[in-house]
Amino acid sequence: MEKTLTLQVNGEAVQLCAEPQTPLLYILRNDLALNGPKYGCGLGECGACTVIVDGRATRSCVFPVVGAVGRTVTTLEGLGSRNCPDPVQQAFITEQAAQCGYCLNGMIMTIKALLLRDPNPSDEQLRSELSANLCRCGTHVEIMRAALRAAGRPAAPHGDSPCR
Ligand code: FES
Ligand code: FES
Repeated sequence: MEKTLTLQVNGEAVQLCAEPQTPLLYILRNDLALNGPKYGCGLGECGACTVIVDGRATRSCVFPVVGAVGRTVTTLEGLGSRNCPDPVQQAFITEQAAQCGYCLNGMIMTIKALLLRDPNPSDEQLRSELSANLCRCGTHVEIMRAALRAAGRPAAPHGDSPCR
């Protein structure tokens, strides 16, 4: 049965009617037109749908909307804008870390959440955090370069891969 729920999304209070167990991803994309988070596997396994809930990277395809009530939700749209991107977004632009770009929402939101709780993560932490985010295009080297840049340590020159 549908209920009236109030969410805090990207700094704004949003009221909507929804079945409480509806995946948060569906609400964000279909009801709120926030299309940063992507539908990939729908099983919590690829990371494409990642948003930040109360500071933690959260797979919104398997997170019921009712679980977001009373918490703060941040989507890719809440990080920055085209004219003023978040530093993590800018790192991905600078490193040109995309082919199709489908995975990038998850990569960016995962790194952002890590940096929120640890502004100076080690290379190993960055790798470990991203290890469960899948990229079908094989852009991992560039993504790792962007992650290092976002953490304030621009990667080694091309040809000296930080992924080795
Ligand atoms: S779509 Fe959510 S983890 Fe794959
Ligand atoms: S850039 Fe295409 S899935 Fe990662």
